[in-house]
Amino acid sequence: MTFAFDIYGTLIDPMALGKVLEGMIGNKAQSFNNLWRDKQLEYSFRKAAMKQFNHFSECTKQALKYCDDFFKTKLTESQKGELLGMYRKLPAYVESESCLSKLKEKGHEIIAFSNGKKEDLISLFEHAEIIQHFDQIISVDAVQTFKPSPEVYELLIQKSSSSKENTWLVSSNSFDIIGAAAMDLKTIWLKRNPNAVFDPFGLQYTITFDNLSDIIGLHN
Ligand code: 2OP
Repeated sequence: MTFAFDIYGTLIDPMALGKVLEGMIGNKAQSFNNLWRDKQLEYSFRKAAMKQFNHFSECTKQALKYCDDFFKTKLTESQKGELLGMYRKLPAYVESESCLSKLKEKGHEIIAFSNGKKEDLISLFEHAEIIQHFDQIISVDAVQTFKPSPEVYELLIQKSSSSKENTWLVSSNSFDIIGAAAMDLKTIWLKRNPNAVFDPFGLQYTITFDNLSDIIGLHN
């Protein structure tokens, strides 16, 4: 089987900058960090709808500026540069490495499948020391749009070494799961947060786990 992993929020923790943010802006850090992620994704959806693609790192940068203006935190250019630089060095979740290595040992194909710019993904994976587990790194850059556009899942189906029936998307992001389900891919919704709500779009995940390690026991 082929397992295609979403990256931010699934294998890599995009909220890990909370402590650094707290050092810069104090008690606004958590709400700032949450809005930063929401706006980053919103901008990717809007750019896809407008057919105005630029790299996901641009969505991250513009969302950071929005939050700085919204919260009136007056971050310096060097503070913003530090935060954006750290975005290329975010940590993996604690169970990511063992999940990937165990799936590899079982002979499955492992794909990194992300909105992220390819060079940012490589930098992330090298820093998190998980790059050795990926058979392929697929960035949406190749189709110049973002998740959940159908084109990105068509790219995954085309690149996967397995049939569509044996290609699984693993993601904590319900918009990603719904986009993949709309293209008849098998999906695993990683419900890290027990309070997470799956969007009522009428398209369901194939299976849900609350921990990556549960995937290891999955059979065809
Ligand atoms: C991704 O990695 C943004 O989490 C999303 O594609």
